[in-house]
Amino acid sequence: MGAKVVVVGGSSGIGLGVAKAALGRGAHLVIVGRSQDKLLQAQRTLAADGHVETVTADMTREAEISAAFAGIGSFDHLVSTAGAPPPGGPIADTDTDEIRRFVDNKLIGAVLLAKHATRRIKRGGSMTFTSGINKDKPPVPGGAVVSAIAGSFSYFARALSLELAPSRVNIVSPGWVDTPMFDELVGDAKAVYFDAMAAQLPIGRIATSADIAPAYIHAMESDFTTGETLHIDGGQRLI
Ligand SMILES: NC(=O)c1ccc[n+]([C@@H]2O[C@H](COP(=O)([O-])OP(=O)(O)OC[C@H]3O[C@@H](n4cnc5c(N)ncnc54)[C@H](OP(=O)(O)O)[C@@H]3O)[C@@H](O)[C@H]2O)c1
Repeated sequence: MGAKVVVVGGSSGIGLGVAKAALGRGAHLVIVGRSQDKLLQAQRTLAADGHVETVTADMTREAEISAAFAGIGSFDHLVSTAGAPPPGGPIADTDTDEIRRFVDNKLIGAVLLAKHATRRIKRGGSMTFTSGINKDKPPVPGGAVVSAIAGSFSYFARALSLELAPSRVNIVSPGWVDTPMFDELVGDAKAVYFDAMAAQLPIGRIATSADIAPAYIHAMESDFTTGETLHIDGGQRLI
């Protein structure tokens, strides 16, 4: 690959897996997140794989994102896996501020990234954002908001890929992945959830970040893939 790749969310979980895979293909890597501690920890984790720059910025704050891209300069590929855990529980009981925070930290953040990345992305580069299985198999009850937001990403990519051509825009939609976000969501109950899901999945196990990274690499490297949603879920949509 040998390209300059910006991974927003590269300090943890799926993004960290993408960062490692991109370094393995010779990328010049920049990882972006809110917590400098998490970024430095990820930089140490990735040190054996290659050189990594870190940029501290919150994708929900436009001034920070604008400054981050100004500092990064021109680049080839943007990946964003940044997002917050979704609100749960029946809609009648869901706190409206919590819904707004989630929408901000998933959809609006991605829109701001695209807006400011556009000014720096090299001709023929790509942007890849992250949706998720909840649009296809909503957790019940309480899945309506996350389902709506995750589903909207595919339409965002379709329209934006036409607007920004020849830059390409794609979405990766993972099934369940063993990451710190899952620990945050279900805590000690994670093993019970994972065992039950693994028993149903055609692939027979829960994904690691390394299982998901190839979809992002494909989205970056395939010159003929644009406006597409790449599902990588071990067959979770089918069960
Ligand atoms: N894990 C799953 O099973 C799963 C399944 C389907 C879809 N997804 C989606 O995949 C994405 C990544 O999930 P993950 O499991 O890898 O989560 P994770 O381990 O919690 O990682 C999230 C990353 O995003 C960064 N981030 C969060 N909010 C940010 C913001 N406002 N600005 C900049 N960076 C931000 C975090 O760093 P800081 O906290 O330091 O900012 C962290 O690096 C999420 O959007 C999630 O909805 C996950």
